[in-house]
Amino acid sequence: MRVTSDPTTRAALVTGASSGIGAAFARALAARGHPLVLVARNEDALTDLAAELEVPARVVVADLTTHDGLARVEAELAGVDLLVNNAGSSTYGELGEQDPDDLEESVLLNVLAPTRLTAAALKAMPDGGGILNVSSTAAGRDDPAIAAYAAGKAYLETLSRAARQEAEQRRITVTVVRPGRTCTAFHERSGEESGHLPAWRWQSPEAVVEAALAAHERGEDEVTVAPG
Ligand SMILES: NC(=O)c1ccc[n+]([C@@H]2O[C@H](COP(=O)([O-])OP(=O)(O)OC[C@H]3O[C@@H](n4cnc5c(N)ncnc54)[C@H](OP(=O)(O)O)[C@@H]3O)[C@@H](O)[C@H]2O)c1
Repeated sequence: MRVTSDPTTRAALVTGASSGIGAAFARALAARGHPLVLVARNEDALTDLAAELEVPARVVVADLTTHDGLARVEAELAGVDLLVNNAGSSTYGELGEQDPDDLEESVLLNVLAPTRLTAAALKAMPDGGGILNVSSTAAGRDDPAIAAYAAGKAYLETLSRAARQEAEQRRITVTVVRPGRTCTAFHERSGEESGHLPAWRWQSPEAVVEAALAAHERGEDEVTVAPG
């Protein structure tokens, strides 16, 4: 059993590492010395990021909405001490207006993927490991524009609280990270028009990550990081 607090021997796997908050997690964890496994679909972005980092960084190109992609990432967890379930997406607009395939893809990514990866990590991870599950301040909000997204994040928070209890005896810390509006590609990808919002409504991905890692290192179960 590996039990060590030396970051250079504690590998971290970050999903959605090709942009936004996930790329910021990768950079911050690399700066702390963690070897990394970087997961997303955009191979070029992952390869560029891996080349920039001064730690060993393995690129795993995987679509987490597919069984094959999930199975390949689950297999990576055998050597991982810290899992960051960060990949996520949203559709924007009323439920009845959504393209059903887009809706399904988002639910698979926000709900099924972190469920399977959290379960696999609990099985594979050594004592003293960690899991960060990226939720949102929108979790549980009854906003018709993001109904499935908000419901999916509420699910992730419930799952995380239960996983934390299960993992406690093995000193595995499960932390929910709840960012508010963060300046990434997320909103544009969802179809939300948010360019008109003032700067004070936004925060940087780096601010989210520093607060998240600090809370996780303190063993906290959740942290909300909002602009301002
Ligand atoms: N931005 C915000 O305001 C905000 C607020 C609260 C919570 N969050 C949460 O923060 C997390 C990160 O979002 P972000 O803001 O950094 O957005 P982002 O820049 O759009 O990043 C999303 C990441 O998820 C990956 N991804 C998307 N679909 C995927 C798939 N099918 N398989 C594997 N990876 C996939 C993307 O990579 P590829 O496209 O290369 O696959 C990308 O790396 C999400 O869970 C989001 O819900 C964001």
